[in-house]
Amino acid sequence: MAIYIDSAEPEEVREALSLGFVKGVTTNPLLIARTGRKPEEVVAAISELWPDELLYQPFSLELERAREELERMRTIAGAILVPKIPATWEGFKLLVDLVRADWRCALTAVYSPSQALLAKEAGASYVIPYVNRATRQGIDGLELVAQISRTLQGSGVQVIAASLKSAEEALAAVASGAQHITVPWPVLRAMAEHPLSLEAVEEFARAAQSYKEGR
Ligand code: E4P
Repeated sequence: MAIYIDSAEPEEVREALSLGFVKGVTTNPLLIARTGRKPEEVVAAISELWPDELLYQPFSLELERAREELERMRTIAGAILVPKIPATWEGFKLLVDLVRADWRCALTAVYSPSQALLAKEAGASYVIPYVNRATRQGIDGLELVAQISRTLQGSGVQVIAASLKSAEEALAAVASGAQHITVPWPVLRAMAEHPLSLEAVEEFARAAQSYKEGR
């Protein structure tokens, strides 16, 4: 099992990787656009932090332009760059093209087990179902993870559950069969902390203070 941080903010990525057990980074055009920086700058800043993998989604989906964009990003990031290709007709063509050229790829924005099955046939290394987005559209996102996990069982293609909006949802995605999860910064924090843990720590701190004052 690996945990990825879903972010294009180098400071968040730095802090997450400093934990030591966050393996990599996933990002997408929306997250990069929100930073106000060029994709090349974001990729350079993140790859300097040495994640094991940087799953990068190209801005262009047109075959030649996407290939050129990904080659450019690989020049910057090196072997950690893993293309993350959206599950569309054009996306599948791009995925096959990249796999033939020996890239390790992920199929992303997955909403059905049939897309996962085709990803396996196309040679993808990862399939990325969007849990919360699916649930918001009336598809049970956790059941989607379970169905995809069953579809891919024994194939070597790994499931990274994404679009996770709470610690509970992240945990449920793993319980539903996801090998890996990618979580945004607030969810990573929520997984690490609990209000009652903080309350207990404050109580201990107050006790330690009055102990010191009483000596
Ligand atoms: C994952 O790789 C995506 O970047 C992300 O999880 C998309 O989902 P969201 O926009 O609902 O967070």
